[in-house]
Amino acid sequence: MEIMHCENLSKVYQASENKVIALDGVSLALEQGSFTAITGPSGSGKSTLLHLLSGLDHPTGGRVIYQEADLYKYKENQLAVLRRRRFGFVFQSYNLVRELTGWENILLPVMLDNRQADEAHLHHIIDLLGIQERLSHLPGAMSGGQQQRVSIARALANKPAILFADEPTGNLDGKVGREVLTLLRQVNRELGITLVLVTHDLNVAEQADRVIQLEDGRVAHDSEVVKS
Ligand SMILES: Nc1ncnc2c1ncn2[C@@H]1O[C@H](COP(=O)(O)OP(=O)(O)O)[C@@H](O)[C@H]1O
Ligand SMILES: [Mg+2]
Repeated sequence: MEIMHCENLSKVYQASENKVIALDGVSLALEQGSFTAITGPSGSGKSTLLHLLSGLDHPTGGRVIYQEADLYKYKENQLAVLRRRRFGFVFQSYNLVRELTGWENILLPVMLDNRQADEAHLHHIIDLLGIQERLSHLPGAMSGGQQQRVSIARALANKPAILFADEPTGNLDGKVGREVLTLLRQVNRELGITLVLVTHDLNVAEQADRVIQLEDGRVAHDSEVVKS
């Protein structure tokens, strides 16, 4: 069953005389519960695609359809709510709030949504990610791997349907990066959350159900036939 698709998605940056075509007509459908890896050289449009699929940016052309609605037809505040409730995002650089503890960072999306925390859910993901001991620490007192685990917990706090991760192991050394990847796969399998992960690392990509390779803003290779 499909959870999301995009049609002819494009993004053009116009900087003075220079026109950069970051994404050039990408169409693909994502299966519910699947793990998709997006690879390709630096500058090929991976982050742009991830941002457009997750409602973090606006396309120049094309559509993103989630639950039968075009993401970019929503008003900005409606899109913000949808993004907060249905999508999680993990960045290479963790993006934790430096002044807040691990626990406060994890709780932030729930509080921004004016909702009661589902304590059982939060404790389940905290256990899964193995960060019980880190909850009272500030990010500055955590290792990179610990910060990324906290940021994954934050991304999962509102029980998203889709988790988007942009080179989540890019700042971590090999062993720690593999541990974080294993956790993301567990999140995908055990919680049934659809995972879309950008990576340079072909070993990471190998563990995905599907690998989409971008080149110059286009899909150069897709290990799965796109259903239209
Ligand atoms: N804000 C921006 N302004 C101008 N060009 C941009 C901007 N963001 C990305 N680009 C360009 O778009 C292309 C794709 O970028 P990006 O999606 O970040 O690639 P990747 O994540 O694969 O490295 C690159 O040529 C990049 O320089
Ligand atoms: Mg990128």
